[in-house]
Amino acid sequence: MVKKKKFPYKPFVFVACLLPACWLVYGVFTGLLGANPIEAVLRDLGDWALRFLLLGLAISPIRRIIGWAWVMRYRRMIGLFAFFYAFMHLSIYIGVDQFFDWPTIWKDIVKRPYITIGMAAVLALVPLAVTSPKTMVRKLGGARWKALHKLVYPIAIAGVVHFFLLVKADIREPLIYGAILAFLLGERLYRRLPTRGFARSS
Ligand code: HEM
Repeated sequence: MVKKKKFPYKPFVFVACLLPACWLVYGVFTGLLGANPIEAVLRDLGDWALRFLLLGLAISPIRRIIGWAWVMRYRRMIGLFAFFYAFMHLSIYIGVDQFFDWPTIWKDIVKRPYITIGMAAVLALVPLAVTSPKTMVRKLGGARWKALHKLVYPIAIAGVVHFFLLVKADIREPLIYGAILAFLLGERLYRRLPTRGFARSS
């Protein structure tokens, strides 16, 4: 029987990905999150959801540009952490910020474009998280699985637009995320340019 190769660093990466959540729990219980801990937790979870989304999108370009093939082993875990932080962000909004006040939450979804877009992004992340196990790749077939997981591009765009829409004056932070996303998507488009292959071979 062929023994499966284990990646010894996976537990460390897992713990590292969990650290922001641990810090938030610690911050809540020690009063380190300032005068409005609910807002701090909500915002931090949103930040980490976006960071993990972008980190997940950065994995393939890192492999292509720097040549670090090993990073691919962590892509699924990072994607699942993006879902985890987005889901916790949504849960804190529904349960702690709005106290499960469904009529108000519904009003927010309908009236506030940044909530509408954020909601669409989280919902779209669900099928990606559900189909992330390797068994699902086999069940769906590689091509269909790949096509489905292309949803991550509009989801990341929605995450950045969500941030742009909710900031009132200082757009520097969403602009930085937007620039990183533009680079990550631009790199993919550039690779697909037909002239690029021609220029290389000539
Ligand atoms: C993939 C999905 C999502 C991502 C990536 C995301 C990301 C973010 C980010 C980056 C922030 C700003 C944090 C900061 O100010 O530093 C934020 C804030 C916020 N998000 Fe999301 N979000 C998502 C989904 C949602 C959903 C579904 C809701 C609610 C239904 C929501 C509600 C909020 C609220 C209420 C704030 C705080 C706004 C404020 O304090 O003015 N987000 N989110």
